[in-house]
Amino acid sequence: MTRIFIPQDVAALAVGAEKVAKAVAAQGGDGVTIVRTGSRGLFWLEPLVEVETPAGRIAYGPVTPADVPGLFAAGFLTGAAHPLCLGPTAQIPWLARQNRLTFARCGIIDPLSVEDYRAHGGFKGIARALDLGPSNTIEEVVRSGLRGRGGAGFPTGIKWRTVAAAPADRRYIVCNADEGDSGTFADRMMLEGDPLALIEGMVIAGYGVGADKGYVYSRSEYPHANHIFTRALYVARKAGLLGPSILGTDFGFDIELRVGAGAYVCGEETALLESLEGKRGVVRAKPPLPAIKGLFGRPTVVNNLLSLATVPTILANGAQAYADYGMGRSRGTMPIQIAGNVKFGGLFEDAFGITLGEIVNEVGGGTLTGRPVKAVQCGGPLGAYFPPSLFDTQYDYEAFTARGGLIGHGGIVVFDDSVDLSAQARFAMEFCAIESCGKCTPCRIGSTRGAEVIDRIRAGIEVEANIALVEDLCQTMKFGSLCALGGFTPYPVLSALQHFPEDFRRGQLPVAAE
Ligand SMILES: Cc1cc2nc3c(=O)[nH]c(=O)nc-3n(C[C@H](O)[C@H](O)[C@H](O)COP(=O)(O)O)c2cc1C
Ligand code: SF4
Repeated sequence: MTRIFIPQDVAALAVGAEKVAKAVAAQGGDGVTIVRTGSRGLFWLEPLVEVETPAGRIAYGPVTPADVPGLFAAGFLTGAAHPLCLGPTAQIPWLARQNRLTFARCGIIDPLSVEDYRAHGGFKGIARALDLGPSNTIEEVVRSGLRGRGGAGFPTGIKWRTVAAAPADRRYIVCNADEGDSGTFADRMMLEGDPLALIEGMVIAGYGVGADKGYVYSRSEYPHANHIFTRALYVARKAGLLGPSILGTDFGFDIELRVGAGAYVCGEETALLESLEGKRGVVRAKPPLPAIKGLFGRPTVVNNLLSLATVPTILANGAQAYADYGMGRSRGTMPIQIAGNVKFGGLFEDAFGITLGEIVNEVGGGTLTGRPVKAVQCGGPLGAYFPPSLFDTQYDYEAFTARGGLIGHGGIVVFDDSVDLSAQARFAMEFCAIESCGKCTPCRIGSTRGAEVIDRIRAGIEVEANIALVEDLCQTMKFGSLCALGGFTPYPVLSALQHFPEDFRRGQLPVAAE
């Protein structure tokens, strides 16, 4: 019986993985066992099919159902040569170049198999945490240098310390899986490819801060991920990773999945908490911080999914092993998501310190269209546009901030020279206007006025005076907005104005793409 691995990640399903699995099952009959995995993250090779051989897994891709008879005829069950053969999966250069810590298991294991999870290092993190005790568990996360992967880059362990120290009758762990940033998909991949890692991370967080209940706030646009995660919760309860007695101890913890209705602002932690409480997703004023007064008024850890899913590996291998990767105050690795007009898009996890140019040109292979790269937007819709002249910027929270940029959730969207940055700046204002929760004036009104003024610039009306007006408006939004939706929308706008001034001075352009 030969084991064949075929992803059931949505990115693979979208390009026909289900039909490929059916074709392999029909052709292989009793001679094959098909294991459905998450994705390895090499999206241009999906559906990527792997065959287990004595020499390790051999990869073939991208495979269509029509290729399947030819693959069998060529002897692919023994890893034989074929035009689609990519050799040993682990040696594919794009994969071999990475340092996968958070995504170490993704694409390799059956996401719903506890045995697979255990065989690939699962449960080691929680076992070590239970040995260390709650406060030492928190200190281990502090020492690792892990910073929040949701956007702000706040040290995860310090947040946990605050929650643990806040007096309360109950505390909560909330996983932010709202993942609204353009060009990002890492949270989804983890939910689909290694959900038990997230569950283990949340259990460790609960143990550390003294919480017995966790919520995962996902999004309705992720039905497949939500389905797999729901099944993972069931599997985890059966395995004693969730429930009244975690791994036989007297510590109990359980998790509920909640699905938001698709507002970008519900990814902002306080709007998320409102939504979890059943209210409209409107931002709360801070203080009090959610760590002091969060869900239902109790001290709450709100962490991005990647922050939590990284915790098991930190505990399992020790804080130092994680902190050994990275540069400056950006320790460990970042699951970078490469998207947009790019040849090799996908999930690339590497240590902080790699340059933006390496990511875009070497890893991403430049644009898919083959035209020159003109701009890269980093960190989602509120992130700055970087021109190639800044491609020496190292992937590091502080280095990005120094250049007016944002690492955010690790999204990188590539544009070729056909992009018009004045249209992108207009889009940033329009996005903010649509997604604004409406609580504060600079964001609610400023974004609409900003889109109008950029329309006038694009129409060639009093260009210099209107550019000055937009710049002034951006300052008001930056410093007068209650949260980062209004406060960061100026970054894409101002970076477009700074690095691509010619795009705003072309005269009569058609007004606003609707
Ligand atoms: C408008 C807006 C949208 C956000 N969306 C997300 C999101 O989708 N996922 C996320 O983890 N954090 C998001 N954040 C950041 C969260 O407010 C919060 O900082 C984060 O969940 C904390 O987790 P971390 O420390 O692990 O990064 C968003 C922030 C803003 C202002
Ligand atoms: S900045 Fe925008 S989204 Fe944030 S609180 Fe103000 S109105 Fe709401």
